Amino acid sequence: TTAHVTLDRDFTAGEVPRRIFGSFVEHMGRCVYTGIYEPGHAAADERGFRTDVLDLVREMGPTVIRYPGGNFVSGYRWEDGVGPASERPRRLDGAWHTVESNAFGLHEFVDWARVADVEVMEAVNLGTRGVDEARALVEYANHPGGTELSDLRRKNGHDDPFGIKLWCLGNEMDGPWQMGAKTADEYGRLAVEAAKAMRLVDPTIELVACGSSSSQMPTFGSWEQTVLRHTYDQVDYVSLHAYYQEHEGDHASFLGSAVDMDHFIESVVATADAVRAAGKHTKRINLSFDEWNVWYQTGRDTEDQPHVIAERNIWREHPRIIEDEYNVTDAVVVGTLLNSLLRHGDRVKIANQAQLVNVIAPIRSEEGGPAWRQSIFWPFARMAALARGEILRAVVRSDRYDTNRFGDVDLVDVSATWSQADGRVALFLAHRGLDEDATVTVDLRGWTAGRVARAEVLDTPAGGDRFSSNTQDRQDAVGLRALDGVAVDGSTLTVRLPALSWAVVELE
Ligand code: AHR
Repeated sequence: TTAHVTLDRDFTAGEVPRRIFGSFVEHMGRCVYTGIYEPGHAAADERGFRTDVLDLVREMGPTVIRYPGGNFVSGYRWEDGVGPASERPRRLDGAWHTVESNAFGLHEFVDWARVADVEVMEAVNLGTRGVDEARALVEYANHPGGTELSDLRRKNGHDDPFGIKLWCLGNEMDGPWQMGAKTADEYGRLAVEAAKAMRLVDPTIELVACGSSSSQMPTFGSWEQTVLRHTYDQVDYVSLHAYYQEHEGDHASFLGSAVDMDHFIESVVATADAVRAAGKHTKRINLSFDEWNVWYQTGRDTEDQPHVIAERNIWREHPRIIEDEYNVTDAVVVGTLLNSLLRHGDRVKIANQAQLVNVIAPIRSEEGGPAWRQSIFWPFARMAALARGEILRAVVRSDRYDTNRFGDVDLVDVSATWSQADGRVALFLAHRGLDEDATVTVDLRGWTAGRVARAEVLDTPAGGDRFSSNTQDRQDAVGLRALDGVAVDGSTLTVRLPALSWAVVELE
């Protein structure tokens, strides 16, 4: 297999939007409780934050984290999660059929985010609640003081405002499963009024309107159009959500998932720009891909974590829900999805991998036990660390393969960045072929590469195959190793990728 890549430092797609390396913490399953927060755990600090998990989060390097949901937020009362912990109510969460103790809430998350060095992206409830609660939350969070709500925040321990810039206007409001789901007109009207009221409290905030829950929704396209017609002047971003999985052994299509993501992004850009033209607007609406990942929604249910726990009629605190175990193939797909997001960084300005810990997550933890990295941790961690500066518009001519769902797809998938400040070029490469190595020739047009500063490839050190994954007992079954066979000669870089692999090469 061969692929030829051309990189020219004059052909860029703008600055790397660092917020595309975002993640997501929902009050769902064990993401918060026994995930990031577990008082009494040997590694917990005095606030109950698991420092072993925090270390992995810092290593993974997310820049921004969406909170507190997800479907959860559409039935959430934010007031339940503030004030003295002993006085917080226990409530039923209908979204995940769970008992919510409210031991962890907004203050805890803001504190945790500071320790983790991430920006907070806060979602307001536009399912069961509305304009008034949304503006009250902005006042509580961001107003300096001298009003009942801001003084309540101060009394609850945070003298300084939280200064939360990024806000989601609800979650997946087009989805019939969502509490308080709405038609596009109903949601559009509510979202614009909530946006106005929130901005009247704090005009510096940035707002994300809900797009479709997936590109497969029957209203996809018309939903975005209607919602943006209502909200255009008041919002900055429209959201996208997408989850991928291998269906019945169709690895070829699964490995081509980024083609679907490319198409989805380009469709939403086109829709937003059509509303811009028709409405004679000057600003552009950018994209917030605020839920994406591999998620085995069918075919991997297990007895201890059924997907529809409501059927069992049991109400529990932090049950195991969708704790997917990720393998090598999943990690390669995640690498290509990150490539897609990065290549579209001229319009996709925010993206959040869903979720951070335990729930379809790159980090796993056990109650009273260890925390470890899943296979999908690695492409995220390396790209979040190394994709800096400008996005290079890589021109790729790759051998192709046939898929059932997406037709012909490139065997080799690439994204690249160039940091002028330190002269570093980073290439993120995936090889979708299962059978043979790929030789990738990179033509550095107009400049000569210095030296190879880093070359790593995802690997299964103790032997294994595309189904290998990390588990509590074998935490390093999948990891990175040095990639051999990377050579630079003047303006040409040559990389040899093993079959089914994800790799990073950094030049300086
Ligand atoms: O991330 C899991 C769930 O997927 C979220 O709660 C919801 O927004 C989406 O459907």
